[in-house]
Amino acid sequence: MCGIVAYIGKEQAYPIIIEGLRRLEYRGYDSAGIALMNGELNTYKKKGKVQDLEDFAEGKNIKGTVGIGHTRWATHGKPDDINAHPHVSGNGDIVLVHNGIIENYSQLKEALIELGHEFESATDTEVLVHLIEQYQAKENLPIEKAVQKALTKAVGAYAIVVFDRKSPDRIVGARKSSPLVLGLGKEEFFLASDATPIIKFTNKVIYLNDEEIVTVKRNGDYEVVTIDNEIQNPEVQEIDLKIEELEKGGYDHFMLKEIYQQPKTIKESMRGRINAEEGWVTVGGMQDHMTRLTGADRMIFAACGTSWHAALIGEYLFEDLARIPVEVEYASELRYRNPVIRENDVIVALSQSGETADTLAALEMAKKKGALLYGIVNNVGSSIARLTDCGSYIHAGPEIGVASTKAFTSQLVVLALMAMNLGKERGTLSNSYYRQLLYAMEQIPDKVSQILEQEEKIKYIAGEIKNAQNALYLGRGYNFPVALEGALKLKEISYIHAEGYPAAEMKHGPIALIDMYMPVIVIATNQSAYEKVVSNIQEVKARKGIVIAIVLEGDKEIKKIADFTIEIPETVEPLSPLLSVIPMQLLSYHIALMRGCNVDQPRNLAKSVTVE
Ligand code: AGP
Repeated sequence: MCGIVAYIGKEQAYPIIIEGLRRLEYRGYDSAGIALMNGELNTYKKKGKVQDLEDFAEGKNIKGTVGIGHTRWATHGKPDDINAHPHVSGNGDIVLVHNGIIENYSQLKEALIELGHEFESATDTEVLVHLIEQYQAKENLPIEKAVQKALTKAVGAYAIVVFDRKSPDRIVGARKSSPLVLGLGKEEFFLASDATPIIKFTNKVIYLNDEEIVTVKRNGDYEVVTIDNEIQNPEVQEIDLKIEELEKGGYDHFMLKEIYQQPKTIKESMRGRINAEEGWVTVGGMQDHMTRLTGADRMIFAACGTSWHAALIGEYLFEDLARIPVEVEYASELRYRNPVIRENDVIVALSQSGETADTLAALEMAKKKGALLYGIVNNVGSSIARLTDCGSYIHAGPEIGVASTKAFTSQLVVLALMAMNLGKERGTLSNSYYRQLLYAMEQIPDKVSQILEQEEKIKYIAGEIKNAQNALYLGRGYNFPVALEGALKLKEISYIHAEGYPAAEMKHGPIALIDMYMPVIVIATNQSAYEKVVSNIQEVKARKGIVIAIVLEGDKEIKKIADFTIEIPETVEPLSPLLSVIPMQLLSYHIALMRGCNVDQPRNLAKSVTVE
């Protein structure tokens, strides 16, 4: 949440920072701001998107070869011009942008007010810039030392970038629990919340660790120290990210592009991990820890949002194929409820961004209890990827639409491959079933392509239900979590209230909601419970609900009773969520579009939730 971009070098900072902020807009889009230094310090801030900031800055002095920028997702203080970052110290010398939450801000603020500081905004962030100013003035410190001192007093999470008008040839950055990446260019440096604003200029980066402070200087020097002043020797990494991956590539929205990328991204998630012909699955991240994984008393899957839905499907997969008991936890609940975690437990964290604060916090807690931490992450080099003992990247490529689509299917691929690998190791899968699963897995990308060909039909159905105020999603077994995911997709981008339920639970309450205005989206592909799902559909129709059924190709029975059907190809049941979720994604996309919603940047949301 909140995106930071900073630049120091020989080029004009403004276009670099604005372009970078656009790339980071997925992290928050309540307000944007920029500070530029060119003899004088100019700060521009505006409620709204980066475009609003650009419009506001037009015709103003935007010169400067050093600058810091920010796109905000509001926590403390409403989204307006004053609460927008950067924040400036009382003496007008120090500017600061921040991602995270300073939990002890009110105590710090009180103390600073007593010392004569005056505050303008309602943010927690503003205390930091005053605190830095206070240390600098009191002890006559260079900016990096003043930052260091101030951070020893701050409780909470932060990625900050600070600039001091009196030292125009340096920028200072620091992180704790919120990401910050340093890009090393040719006689220039970049600091950003992730590598996307940097990649156009350099692929050499340093991922800062918690409680590290970096000072970058115009002369090409940089230094990383810990908050306790220990000099660090950070690893410079070369990242493999192409600029085209960050563009819409001819699609109207990132979400649509990402939906359509799935045949390819699913293949990428499988690459080098499976060969049906030769009859093997090997998930690299597991191999060094196989004894611990196969011998685990149980696994705990921790995640949030869509990743939590993938985790639920993971529970079905691991228990069904590998016979390992799994508990699925909301990371935020696991973190705060004093759970029993033993050394023989394995905690599997799922996260697209690898930066979700609740998931990170849950992992840190489990680490202290000695559990093995396994990460299933998309974002390479992210905090969760670095904190875990081992793990597997899902290789879905950058996901920019706030609504997760391709990351979900890639998480499912990795979970399925892990379950097959473990099942084989533990001897819980018969050879023939194992082979059947391998072949079925390799056919998934083509089957996803086939479903995507039905976009026009799905668009038509979207038009029929777009004015609904509520929607119900039903599924059984492996497809119950898909119902939850379908409901979340609809809620978050179209603002229609939607609930996902196990189909059989409908009669225990939600059936009371059904009337002629209620669309009920039913996943009716389970061979094992087909007749039961047919009964559920009959129950909905008896109450005049509108049934949209996802059925297997060639289905005849449900077609007779449902209002609309979407056919998907058959596969083995454990892999069916990889197919049944695709129509859900397209349906939500088109409904949101028809309702005039901002599909890629839905209101109040941010892609990377780096606050607890
Ligand atoms: C999904 O569409 C969401 N926008 C959201 O629920 C997301 O899945 C959640 O915030 C978890 O993010 P992560 O996978 O990056 O940890």
